[in-house]
Parts: sequence; C-alpha cells; structure tokens
Amino acid sequence: MISADSTTTSTFDRKETTHLLKQVVGFFEGEGTFRAVDLRCLQPDEKAPCDLFLRAGQDRFTLFVRKGAGFEGSTRRRLHVHGVTHLFIREEEAGVFYDRLRNALIRIVKDPCCPDRTKAEFIHSACKDIISQVYGDPRAPFLIHACEIITPAVDLVVANERATRCLVQLTAHDLSTYTHSTNVGIFAVALARIVYGQSVEHDLRKMAMGFFLHDLGKCHIPLEILNKPGSLNDREWHLMRAHPKSGYEILSQTGFMSDEAKLIILEHHERDDGTGYPGSLKSHEIHPYARICRLADVYEALTSDRAYHKRRSTFQALKLMKEKVLVDMDSEFFECFVRLFEKT
Ligand SMILES: [Fe+2]
Repeated sequence: MISADSTTTSTFDRKETTHLLKQVVGFFEGEGTFRAVDLRCLQPDEKAPCDLFLRAGQDRFTLFVRKGAGFEGSTRRRLHVHGVTHLFIREEEAGVFYDRLRNALIRIVKDPCCPDRTKAEFIHSACKDIISQVYGDPRAPFLIHACEIITPAVDLVVANERATRCLVQLTAHDLSTYTHSTNVGIFAVALARIVYGQSVEHDLRKMAMGFFLHDLGKCHIPLEILNKPGSLNDREWHLMRAHPKSGYEILSQTGFMSDEAKLIILEHHERDDGTGYPGSLKSHEIHPYARICRLADVYEALTSDRAYHKRRSTFQALKLMKEKVLVDMDSEFFECFVRLFEKT
C-alpha cells in the first residue's frame, strides 16, 4: 500500500529517471508501505534521517539516499529541476523522520540568522506535509506527529510578526483539503494571536490543532463529493454536514487532543443566526475559537480556486466578507483579521 498522498506526487518519465538514477543505491519492489514526504521538509546539507526513496513506477521504489548519508542542496535542486516534489520513506521510519523534522523546525524558528522567508517556507511545507498524512490516515501516532510539527509553527507566529506575514503570503491556492486546512490553520493562529496576544488564558498551541485539523472529518467523504462542481444532492449534503461531528469523534477516540481543539472542530460551521451545523447554535453559544476558525475558513475558501468558483483577490474577499458573508459575525475579529494583510 502506498501513502494516500502519493497520487499528488510528481511523476517523471524514464529518461529523467535514468538521469537521476546515477545516485540510486538499489531497487525495491512491493516491500512494505512507503510514505510520500515533501522534498522541502528535508534540510539540505544534513544527513538523511532515514533511507530516502524515489518512486520509479507503480509499487516500485529506488533507494536514493541511504540513512546517514549527506543530502546536499545540489541534490535537492537537481530533483526540483526534474519535477520531483516528493521523496518516499518506509512507513516504519515515519517516527524517525518526523522527530528529525520537529527538531529542525525548533532549531530554525529560534535561529536569528535564518531569514524570515526561509523559516516561513519550511514551516509551511512541514505543516502541509503532516496535515496531508493525518487527513490520509487519522490515527493517534500521526496526530501526535502533527502536534509536534504544528507546535513550532505556533511558536513562530507568537514570536515573530514578520515571519507570520511571510507565512500568510505563502498560502498557496489549490483544491486539496490539506492545503486548505494548512492555510486555515495559519490564518486562524495568526488571528488568535492578534485577538488574545500572549494571554496565558488562551493557549494558542491547544487551539492550533483544532484550526489545522478542523476538516479532519472530511477524510470519510468521497473525493467526488468534496470536489463536485454542481450543487450537492440530499444524501451528499447529509454526508458533508456530518464532517464536524465525525472529526470531533476521531479526535475524541485518540484521547489526547485538547478540549479547545475538539470544540473548534465541532463548531466551525455554526452560524450566529442558528442556520449552521451540526448544533444550530446561536451566536452566544458558539465558542469564540470556533468563530475565529470559521472566519479563516471563509476567507481561505474565497481566495482559493474551487470546483465551483475562481479565487478572489485578498481585497475582493475581504470586501465580500465585510458586506455579505459575515454580517452576523464579530466585527472585532474581522477588523483584527484585516490587520494581517496591511502593508507594514
Ligand atoms: Fe469544515
């Protein structure tokens, strides 16, 4: 079995493969499970944390860099030139890989010599990578990895406003649920930081897991429904409306997720006028953290290409939100959100 994310991995033709195979150590076919990891999650000029593989065909992998061997910046650039965006690791080595990634993130976030843009790019890639893993397989071990990767991201947002702006600028626009979730996570953490400052009563780390995983329940919804260009029928709509509850249940079963995160996931589609779901809660009943998540969620949806609309510019999206979408929402939160996009 291949990672659920493998379908998004770039493939390359035989000629290009041959060119890259000069470095290949050996071929492995159908040996266990492999997991795709974003190339940008590997720190150049450091030793490989585990064996790194290239995908050479269906269920066919080539050992590209052995564990402990150097992974040079020139190698990464060469892969990039050939359109390779992901390498593969053995499933059983995911723990080692994400441990190393977390340590690298902590080091980079604290490094005063590292440019803000580099910090933001590394954090964004790592979050997107781990979120894609969790949405593909929301079991406790991957949720723990996600928690460990997202925490340095929150620390960066708390400590560094310029890096936060770089992160906001990096939010890419595509259809995938995990890109959307990563972007919503970044917007919502950045907004919560403005709203609550560094108040000890409001723990951004605990909230962050809810923001990044708010759509976790969508892992049970077929892709053809998630990406359907037309309107949903009753059965499809019923499935879609179930995702806050099923995401809440997935996290509850893992037993380690914070109450803040579970509340955010459960209430992020509630609306102040009571027309939201699953609880049809009214304004004062909806937790403020869930309202922050909803605001970020609406903005991200408006500024991304969707099956049913083209993305809007930041200005168009904020204008639309102010005039139409958020008439029933906290203007205080919205004004804080707009500040994220002000020029410095
Ligand atoms: Fe949602």
